[in-house]
Amino acid sequence: FPVEDIRNFSIIAHVDHGKSTLADRLLELTGTIDKTQKNKQVLDKLQVERERGITVKAQTASLFYSFGGKQYLLNLIDTPGHVDFSYEVSRSLSACQGVLLVVDANEGIQAQTVANFFLAFEAQLSVIPVINKIDLKNADPERVGKQIEKVFDIPSEECIKISAKLGTNVDSVLQAVIERIPPPKVHRANPLKALVFDSTFDQYRGVVASIALFDGMLSKGDKIVSAHTKKTYEVNQVGILNPNEQPTHKLRSLQPTCNCVCYYESDLFMWKSGVYPIDQSEYNNLKSAIEKLTLNDSSVTVHRDSSLALGAGWRLGFLGLLHMEVFNQRLEQEYNASVILTTPTVPYKAVLSSAKLIKEYKEKEITIINPAQFPDKSKVTEYLEPVVLGTVITPTEYTGKIMELCQARRAIQKNMTFIDENRVMLKYLFPLNEIVVDFYDSLKSLSSGYASFDYEDAGYQTADLIKMDILLNGNIVEELVTVVHREKAYTVGKSICERLKDSLPRQLFEIAVQAAIGSKVIARETVKAYRKNVLAKCYGGDITRKMKLLKRQAEGKKKLRKIGNIEIPKNAFIKVLKTQ
Ligand code: GTP
Repeated sequence: FPVEDIRNFSIIAHVDHGKSTLADRLLELTGTIDKTQKNKQVLDKLQVERERGITVKAQTASLFYSFGGKQYLLNLIDTPGHVDFSYEVSRSLSACQGVLLVVDANEGIQAQTVANFFLAFEAQLSVIPVINKIDLKNADPERVGKQIEKVFDIPSEECIKISAKLGTNVDSVLQAVIERIPPPKVHRANPLKALVFDSTFDQYRGVVASIALFDGMLSKGDKIVSAHTKKTYEVNQVGILNPNEQPTHKLRSLQPTCNCVCYYESDLFMWKSGVYPIDQSEYNNLKSAIEKLTLNDSSVTVHRDSSLALGAGWRLGFLGLLHMEVFNQRLEQEYNASVILTTPTVPYKAVLSSAKLIKEYKEKEITIINPAQFPDKSKVTEYLEPVVLGTVITPTEYTGKIMELCQARRAIQKNMTFIDENRVMLKYLFPLNEIVVDFYDSLKSLSSGYASFDYEDAGYQTADLIKMDILLNGNIVEELVTVVHREKAYTVGKSICERLKDSLPRQLFEIAVQAAIGSKVIARETVKAYRKNVLAKCYGGDITRKMKLLKRQAEGKKKLRKIGNIEIPKNAFIKVLKTQ
């Protein structure tokens, strides 16, 4: 193909606005897949994607399309829509010159529409707005066109109105791709230069990489070098995705030089969660599963870790809760591995107060990975927590409730814009840890599912952080030490105490379960003693036997109490530590 007949594009949209359906239609229209093929959502290949009906991994497909007497090669890269996967969106965009921005004709612009638009805009890509689902009874494409003009400054006449479900007007989308998106700028005569934007592990063939070729050519048998690791590899097979793999003799550069923007490459903003095998004998199997899966999802960071309670495991960094759940589900479904996932934490920092300490830690600001290593206030000028700039788009009637929710999460309002008569866009600065666990669910439930949310990194802010200990009869349980915001200490402490109380079996003595800051106890629960009736077996009146037994019981109690030897079953830790 001459370079001028090639187009590289992505489809971006808010979740459920119809990207995958549109991709299916484009594949059908270009004869890439059969219309009668039952297997819809061809690009959603992972089991987790089919089950949840969402796209997690960006997939690619090469389409051939004749227009104006000429044949074009259109490389389509599908992208996920959910906030957690914007890493995949950025990666996909770095291999494109244009995007189809799909907006639902009923729901209109949503939070991820805005976030995705700006990713494309910043990458200087051509944006083709597509208003989808015009067949719906409540569809209002005119209103959505006006929103697009107001929020993105794209004239509403440029919107293409389609129904991906029925196939209405989808051919105009392909024509717009050819007419409005420029061909890539490539240098085929130059030495090979390519970007690996995805990879998977195949049991029989080894690593299969999806690449965007910028310069040069690639054939079977070529020796290639990784610019990053300097390792050499031999190419066993090359091919294109149409949409299934189709071997070819050679690959020529189809794509432009790109400034591989790996948006989330730094692990600063990741949610760290511990991952442990349920049974330590499974450690090696789990290790190999994690290695293979992270090859396919390089946004997950992996560090070895061990916990007194859960044994050897890893501390993994995820981009959000859904990302974490999906990773876990893929481990189970694709690698048959069962794991314990601990409640995620965000990376707090401490700014050290003296030159001596800076020398000792070799850094001015230390990132607190393990709460047990939280530096004392005396060593620190300030603590810092990560913050994000969140965008909420909602029908106006929910505005009040949403503002209350945001305030309860320590968020600060930055902006409020009406995008039309019924919809408002709110911008808030949130401490990351406040949205880690259930913010998204709360937002959805109080807006009957209508509000949408997205966020971007916004650096660090000063935070009043403290270390909270959990005590059992006065002894610190190191596994449960937590870093919390002072304002939230009571709520968090109480909840941990309650969960621990419910999961500890009764013993022969009372157990005080306490949360404490330094020497100050802030929450307490009690596990009542289980008074074993040691006399039950003594039928007669053998008083010496009775006394002996009573003494033994008292000694037993004393001994346990004295050394704080409370038997805590592993299950109790799992119940407290794992995500709800
Ligand atoms: P993710 O992969 O999760 O990001 O979602 P998506 O944007 O790919 O959406 P998908 O294509 O899965 O469509 C979401 C839902 O909208 C599905 O139930 C589709 O059948 C439906 N849908 C898509 N296009 C249309 C359309 O033109 N009209 C109608 N009525 N429904 C549509």
